[in-house]
Amino acid sequence: MKKNILCIGAGYVGGPTMAVIADRCPDCKVTVVDINSERIAAWNSDNLPIFEPGLDEVVKRRRGKNLFYSTDIAGGIKAADIIFVSVNTPTKTFGAGAGKAADLQYLEKTARSIVEYADSDKIVVEKSTLPVRTAQAMSRILQSNTKNLNFPVLSNPEFLAEGTAISDLENPDRVLIGGMETPEGQAALNELVELYAQWVPRERIITTNLWSSELSKLVANALLAQRISSINSISALCEKTEANVYEVAAAAGRDSRIGPKFLHASIGFGGSCFKKDILNLVYLCEYYGLPEVAAYWEQVVKMNDFQARRFVQNMIGAMFNTVSAKKIAIFGFAFKANTGDTRESPACAVCHQLLEERAELSIYDPKALENAKIDLANAQGRINYCTSPYEAAKGAHAIAIMTEWNEFKELDYQRIFDNMEKPAFIFDGRNIVDHQYLYELGFNVYPIGKKSLVHV
Ligand code: UDX
Ligand code: ADP
Repeated sequence: MKKNILCIGAGYVGGPTMAVIADRCPDCKVTVVDINSERIAAWNSDNLPIFEPGLDEVVKRRRGKNLFYSTDIAGGIKAADIIFVSVNTPTKTFGAGAGKAADLQYLEKTARSIVEYADSDKIVVEKSTLPVRTAQAMSRILQSNTKNLNFPVLSNPEFLAEGTAISDLENPDRVLIGGMETPEGQAALNELVELYAQWVPRERIITTNLWSSELSKLVANALLAQRISSINSISALCEKTEANVYEVAAAAGRDSRIGPKFLHASIGFGGSCFKKDILNLVYLCEYYGLPEVAAYWEQVVKMNDFQARRFVQNMIGAMFNTVSAKKIAIFGFAFKANTGDTRESPACAVCHQLLEERAELSIYDPKALENAKIDLANAQGRINYCTSPYEAAKGAHAIAIMTEWNEFKELDYQRIFDNMEKPAFIFDGRNIVDHQYLYELGFNVYPIGKKSLVHV
């Protein structure tokens, strides 16, 4: 094998990324290690720990040939030429920066493991999203080794989106690699460029200095989330004025300087990245004495929280100012379609708020039900987890659509309506169903950013 590649952290980023590297670089040996032995066992089984379209096929094609999953972190480090670090960097829950700053303890432990086990030089690649200048701390820990070893650090943030991870990895808009501006740093950077160049066109591989690369990932996510919060803020105004947020977004998005993507008004953005990365950016701005810049970006998160609260308030208002003891069917719990991931899902915030109002919830999601159970384990109130949307809606006063799963567009809504309490309500947090059709069936329909259709 030409190169030994190791990835530390077998999660949503490390798992799919390494599978595609193994697939596209058959002359490299790729090993993914994790401290979580259950996760590694799942990667070695027919039941992978994450659901991602196309992932099973890639893993099946390469596993046991040049793709390996293991808990032997020490052995993996010793054998590696290039180490991708893809451990979790959650928001800190304690001490200075709690609630905003990234918790870098897992990253630091990884750096210390590399120092402990390595007996030759290695390129260390930051894959996890990190605060700008983390590579400096990483480098200092790595260079503290007493074995005279060199560990040039590169930043190579991952831009894949869940649900489309495999196609994003196979055909990325860009690959970003940042390196130290030293001969050693540039040599390491060129080595990583060569790896990606095996399947990514050269013009899509961008190289920058380390700090630009680290910051670019935070900025890309902040800009994407900002577009969603911007259009969601307008959705509130549309509901008051009878403008239609989809017509507004389409009209504005036709300007090539604005563009049509990421202007889909919704219940709000979720996922492990957007909120975490913006708060991380906010913390960095505060840390560097830029409170106005911090407040500007923090507003993106506040608007997102407002959108979920507004949705629940609309539900309560429409349902005669009380949802207490009313059964509400929750359609979808994942933070977006085509994933089982529920991290920061707006569905979770909505469910908590409805439970506080003493509603009874029946939740259905095709892929995220197990995660929903974990997320709501400590919630007070009555929750049923259902294996079909028809079961969830049976006897319900209302349906709240939380995730844009295709199957919700194709349900037999006549059957659903017939089995619901009357008046029946549907709150479409993703604007995916045919509102006029549902209204004609007898539903009271409440889209986002569009006039509601109510039987009086
Ligand atoms: C995001 C970035 O897209 C990706 O580049 C980065 O690497 C990780 O974070 P991800 O969180 O997987 O990816 O999903 P994404 O498709 O960006 O959606 C995030 C959230 O925004 C979802 O809850 C989605 O439903 C919501 N969204 C997206 C909207 O509400 N409206 C839109 O127009 C687009
Ligand atoms: P992401 O979405 O960024 O991939 P995940 O939480 O899905 O984040 O995955 C991160 C993985 O990193 C987890 O499986 C976790 O067990 C693993 N991990 C954390 N710390 C270490 C460590 N010191 N050594 C090896 N693996 C680690």
